[in-house]
Amino acid sequence: MENKDIILTGIRANGELTLGNYLGAIVPMVKLQNKYANSHQINMFVPDLHSFTTPINHNDLYLKIIDSLKFYVAAGIDLNLDNVYIYRQSFISAHSELTCILNNFTSYGELLRMTQFKEKSDQLKDNFISAGLFDYPVLMAADILLYGALWVPVGDDQRQHLELARNLSIRFNNKFNQRLFVVPNTWEKQQEFIGRNNGARIMSLKNPNNKMSKSLSDPNGTILLTDNPENAATKIINATTDSVGIINYNIENQPGITNLLDILALLIDEPLEKIIKNWQGKKSYIELKKAVADEVKIFLTNFQKKLLEIDETSLMRKLESSEYLMRDVATQRLYKIQQVVGLRP
Ligand code: TRP
Repeated sequence: MENKDIILTGIRANGELTLGNYLGAIVPMVKLQNKYANSHQINMFVPDLHSFTTPINHNDLYLKIIDSLKFYVAAGIDLNLDNVYIYRQSFISAHSELTCILNNFTSYGELLRMTQFKEKSDQLKDNFISAGLFDYPVLMAADILLYGALWVPVGDDQRQHLELARNLSIRFNNKFNQRLFVVPNTWEKQQEFIGRNNGARIMSLKNPNNKMSKSLSDPNGTILLTDNPENAATKIINATTDSVGIINYNIENQPGITNLLDILALLIDEPLEKIIKNWQGKKSYIELKKAVADEVKIFLTNFQKKLLEIDETSLMRKLESSEYLMRDVATQRLYKIQQVVGLRP
């Protein structure tokens, strides 16, 4: 391991993945890998200890994680890159231990202000608001600070959590008067770094004002990566549009059509401007739907074929070798922190 700047990113790997996850998160991750694997160290990790904050099935969690990682590999995550590490959070116990320490330097009020905590606790059906949900951002800070990651490209929904990691690192460095933690760059800088275009949020095909999500009781609005390609194409044909009658890229007034244009641009990897230029002003919604449906069908057919060819042995080997190396890095960092707070000589 050389001293390269570190990019750290979380891989969501529980539950079924949707076309929205693919276009909005997996493809950008593959692009990040292709662009930076030579010049940076990239830590891609599965925040599996974070997965209990929403209801899950504990019986198949372990296998689900392995399964969903295969989707990432099918999408282009390369298991043979030396500068890329893929590991599971719970396999490196320093994440939990550092969380335990950081908890004492994080205030109740700070965590109470987290909008994701408020939103998620409001959505809970049984009103059991766990300490795990409350403490989620501290574990996330530990994920980042253990490795000294400068680059943590996260979406808007994770902005406050990144801020907390920054604040904790600064607080610690000041209190103990040393440069113990690397302070991750600001959210604005992270955004500049990945140059995120704004079209990456894929919406439900039936309720285009909501994000495409498997949790919405909205099977026709959602395309799963495991959907039968013909059925998926039909979902596109039946997507909700509007009564304007002319194709425009307009999120406010024509969210359904806009969503289809976004999907098309991302699927065929062409600039959105070009797609808009091709379709803007045309009157036939069905023509656009057919074009998108065809691309979705081609994409899913190829993707599912690749998925079947993924070799589980190489995936496990990659996980285990990354975990072996990262455990060492994380344990050493934890030891320094334990020394600083007075737990070690
Ligand atoms: N909270 C992140 C999400 O929901 C996942 C995550 C956990 C993460 N720990 C992280 C992302 C550390 C970046 C860095 O997407």
